[in-house]
Parts: sequence; structure tokens; C-alpha cells
Amino acid sequence: MRVGILTSGGDCQSLNATMRGVGKTLYNIYGNDLSIYGFEDGYHGLIYSEYRKMERSDFSGILNIGGTILGTSRTPFKLIREPDENGLNKVEAMKNTYRQLRLDCLVVLGGNGSLKTANLLQQEGLNVVGCPKTIDNDLWGTDMTFGFHSAVSVATNAIDCIHTTAASHKRVFIVEIMGHKVGMMTLYAGLAGGADIILIPEIPYHIDAVCSKIQERYSHGSPFSIIAVAEGAISYENSILSKKELKKKRSEGKIYPSVSYELADQVFEKTGIEVRVTVPGHTQRGGAPVAYDRVLATRFGVEAAMLIQKKSFGNMVALVNNEIVSVPLAEIAGKLKTVEPESQIIKDARAVGISFGDEV
Ligand code: F6P
Repeated sequence: MRVGILTSGGDCQSLNATMRGVGKTLYNIYGNDLSIYGFEDGYHGLIYSEYRKMERSDFSGILNIGGTILGTSRTPFKLIREPDENGLNKVEAMKNTYRQLRLDCLVVLGGNGSLKTANLLQQEGLNVVGCPKTIDNDLWGTDMTFGFHSAVSVATNAIDCIHTTAASHKRVFIVEIMGHKVGMMTLYAGLAGGADIILIPEIPYHIDAVCSKIQERYSHGSPFSIIAVAEGAISYENSILSKKELKKKRSEGKIYPSVSYELADQVFEKTGIEVRVTVPGHTQRGGAPVAYDRVLATRFGVEAAMLIQKKSFGNMVALVNNEIVSVPLAEIAGKLKTVEPESQIIKDARAVGISFGDEV
């Protein structure tokens, strides 16, 4: 059995734990009849034949180590059919590396874009198994991605740390949370950290609603507020503009580093209360994985190895209703999972008084 493995896209905390699950299980099944090749820096290694053989020992001692021992990089799907700067056909190059190493299968640990490429390679005749990686938890077909809970934990800690200083200074604090176009991380971290207002892309906000929540808290004796803002959060008035109109509007106004800084200016203008912005940024992808992720990653890794043993290729391992299952890559590739505005978790958050900035 000859298996290739790579980690692609933005890193997250339990990539190593997942590879360990795959590697240990495969070595336990195939013993000396197994060769695993780890490609360096994601698809880059597969394209340019940069790899190393991974022994059984390579999968030991990495369960709790963040990042990825193989390195990773972004190889945008929309450019995958474009030749590289030297005219190399990247898809053909990947197929050649796979064939030269006489691989039986390629395991891809990746998020949305990376799994689209995984699906393309499957359609091009390679045997591929996908593992759902991303702190954003925005992959269709799985209830949970590995990395999400660890990142939520870092973001929650950031909110916790802000809480005491916010109360002491009677300020409004904005904590900007990653998640790309999806508000899942912000929703969870906001709930876990006790944010007063949560702004996510799926529920466009009205600045007046945000300010009236802050003022309502003020008048009820809570002179500080914490707003958890998704990096992709958007105001209602911007959400109804076309991409072109929004670009034009942004180019004409003050340029802000992110939505949080624009919101901070607006809140100060309307309420006169001091506002501070905290952006934990890539710390959210760093450090050791939390226990939940270690368990999920291990189980995903084991399932990926089982799929290889069963020659059940073209699938992504997934968590559905608390069961580890597999779903066809072709069914999930390119589909985004977003927060459902009418879901129970949103209703629960509203029930404890959290504002999503949509109701004045
Ligand atoms: O997809 C993971 C993620 O961390 C997003 O939450 C974020 O928008 C993006 O990656 C940041 O990407 P980069 O590390 O390339 O700046």
C-alpha cells in the first residue's frame, strides 16, 4: 500500500493529530507493506515533487502539536488549471508525481478550496480521500471540521480577557473573530465569551440597532459592552449593494483595515462612548489543539485509513449527527455551510439577550 498525504490551505490546530490518526492506523493495518509519502507545503509538494517518506515514528509525539509537520500553502482552485510561471501544467504535474510514486491513494487534509482540488484530482483519475480541516467550520457535508473548537477556544479567551478591562474602563470593546465569509466561529466564541452583541455575515446589522443595545445596557447599569464581530460581518445597507457598488462605495469613503474599525467609528459617533478594537488574528489558528479536536481528528484519521483499506475513494470523512461517516467529495466540493439565521442556536442566543444588530 502506497499512500500520499498533504495538508493544504490555512493551517489549524489539529492537522498533526489527524495525520497521526491516518498514519498510525495504516501502519497498524499494513505494517511493513506500507509506504507513506508526505508532500511538503500542500499541493505545492505534489506539483513540484517535493516530498519525504514518513515512517511510523513520524506519527508519534505530534497529537498535541499545532500547525503541520508537512507545512502548508494556499494553491487557489481558480488558478489550478492555469500554467505556473514556467508554463508547467499543474494538474498534469500532480498526476505525474502520483504516478511516479506509484501511489494507491492521496489523502488531502484541507478546507473548501483544497477539497475542490481534491475532487478535481479524483475526477482526473487519482484515488483521493479528504479530511475536513478549517477553523471556520464552513464545510458542507460535515457538522464539524477539525480545528474549529481549538480556534473558538482562543477567540473565547480573547473575549474573556477583554471582559475585565471593558468593565473597568466603561468602554465598548470590539473583538474581531476569523471565519472568512461565515459567522460560525464568532457565534460560538461570542456565546462562550458572553458577548453582548454578535455580528455575523449571515445576519446583516443596522448600526442603530447596535447602538441602541449599547445604550440600553448603559441605562440598565452596564456601562460597557462587548461586541464579537466576524471578519466578514456586513451592515444591512452594504449587504444590499452589488459587489461593484460596494467596491465603489468603499473606494470613495475612509479606508478601514477591517469592518471592526468602521463599526468603532460609527459607534463612537452615535453614542460618544469610547470604543477599542482587538483583533486576535492568527493567534486563533495557533497553539495546541483542545481535547475535542484531538479526539475528532483522531477519529477522522482512523476513518480515512479505513476508507483506504476498503478502497472507498472519492470521499471526505465527516461528522454527521455525532457519527463518523463519509460523504462523496463530488457532493460537497464548492459548497459553503453557513449559519442559519433561524436556527435554534441563534434563537437561544437571542433568548439570553444577545443582540445580532438586526432588531432596534
Ligand atoms: O480559512 C481559515 C482562515 O483563518 C479564515 O478564517 C481567514 O479569513 C483566513 O484563513 C486567513 O487567511 P490567511 O492565513 O491566508 O491570511
